[in-house]
Amino acid sequence: MSLADVTYLPETPAHDLQINAINEEAFGPGRFVLAAYKIRESGGHDRSLSFVAVDGDTVVASVRMTRVAAGAGRALMLGPLAVRPAFKNLGIGRRLVAIALEAAAKAGAPAVMLVGDEPYYGPLGFKRIPRGQISMPRPVDPDRLLAHEIMPGAVARLSGEVCHANQARIADTLSAMT
Ligand SMILES: CC(C)(COP(=O)(O)OP(=O)(O)OC[C@H]1O[C@@H](n2cnc3c(N)ncnc32)[C@H](O)[C@@H]1OP(=O)(O)O)[C@@H](O)C(=O)NCCC(=O)NCCS
Repeated sequence: MSLADVTYLPETPAHDLQINAINEEAFGPGRFVLAAYKIRESGGHDRSLSFVAVDGDTVVASVRMTRVAAGAGRALMLGPLAVRPAFKNLGIGRRLVAIALEAAAKAGAPAVMLVGDEPYYGPLGFKRIPRGQISMPRPVDPDRLLAHEIMPGAVARLSGEVCHANQARIADTLSAMT
């Protein structure tokens, strides 16, 4: 395998089975109880902003993006990001993050947040969100809450519990009706 054989594509439904297998391998069955999974369960990810790395017909890595809300703030949540073990440390993860950030900016997203390792994501443009500013629907290590700001002030607008953007929309509609 050479890196030259790997190409990067927008995700389609045809990739779903292989992406599930990659995430199972990377995170195990415990992934379903993670905070980020709980948010994605409420409305799913945004396929148009999610990408795969493929070697021929084989998906070797995946990154997904989900529209989220926290208080007045809106963002995309990056994750899961996972690379098949045989393809790790070739720069594929970094490239997928860069592609996802570029797509997010083009789509007009104000910020991208995630739950992940600062030593990995810091050099890719993510900073810690100040402790206590946001929370997740399940416990997470606050030092792993990171954000990449696209529009100035967008990260400061994120506050309180992060939820799927669809849930925030429903709540806004209900409050407009009362
Ligand atoms: C984390 C992961 C996505 C990185 O993808 P990758 O394609 O192997 O990584 P890249 O080739 O882009 O980058 C490799 C570099 O990142 C470093 N790195 C990998 N995981 C890291 C982590 N969790 N923390 C800090 N650095 C990390 C490697 O040591 C390597 O460093 P080097 O360039 O100095 O040698 C991949 O290892 C993976 O799928 N892990 C399991 C799932 C996971 O933890 N996902 C991230 C949480 S959302």
